[in-house]
Amino acid sequence: MTRGTGVGHIRVKTAKKRTAQSTRWLERQLNDPYVHKARAQGWRSRAAFKLIELDEKFHFVRQARHVVDLGVAPGGWAQVVRKLSPKAKVVGIDLLPTDAIEGVTLFQMDFLDEKADALLRDALGDAPDLVLSDMAANTVGHAQTDHLRTMGLVEAAVWFAIGTLKPGGTFVSKVFAGGTDRDLLIVLKKHFTSVKHAKPPASRKGSSEWYVVAQGFKGPATAPSEG
Ligand SMILES: C[S@@+](CC[C@H](N)C(=O)[O-])C[C@H]1O[C@@H](n2cnc3c(N)ncnc32)[C@H](O)[C@@H]1O
Repeated sequence: MTRGTGVGHIRVKTAKKRTAQSTRWLERQLNDPYVHKARAQGWRSRAAFKLIELDEKFHFVRQARHVVDLGVAPGGWAQVVRKLSPKAKVVGIDLLPTDAIEGVTLFQMDFLDEKADALLRDALGDAPDLVLSDMAANTVGHAQTDHLRTMGLVEAAVWFAIGTLKPGGTFVSKVFAGGTDRDLLIVLKKHFTSVKHAKPPASRKGSSEWYVVAQGFKGPATAPSEG
């Protein structure tokens, strides 16, 4: 590891056992101010700042009392929710293990598993007023496949939110390539009074990641018309 010519920039030498891709990842991590800030402030992930920044713009965390966090690991978003809304009950799910967080019930399982919906609802004990999804499918490097897999997760999260949220509730989800798929956007606009896209400053400029923030859930009465 060496200091590069740019001010304070750390360059990582390639090593025999390291692929070019992981060398790039390591270099990016070492030079990412959000990674340092997250560590200094005790957040488990730099992703925590994305939720903080989205909340600064759209104000949905502090009033939340029942929260579902889809793709919770390693737990940055759940930490933010508990910090900004200490009374909130949070239920999180991830394929990966997540270390315990006070006030957060954690499930290590696939959200696409047919049992997941009921488990999350039962554990929360009440309808959520906030459903968060930061889920991202592992990429395989084939753009179309990666897009379809991630959109599949977004779609599942949308339908979960529509089927469980309290009227007035909020749904926030990571989406890709500039926004929500057209059909999903139509669905969201039908069920929420406000649907906005945002790219928080903590989201890397080069990534195609965006977030959709749907607020003012109209309630289940509007649900039946989709096939
Ligand atoms: C960007 S990370 C989430 C970071 C988290 N918001 C935080 O602040 O710590 C995305 C997560 O989605 C999870 N994930 C991807 N597909 C999933 C699925 N089908 N079911 C549950 N979790 C999934 C991944 O395992 C990964 O931990």
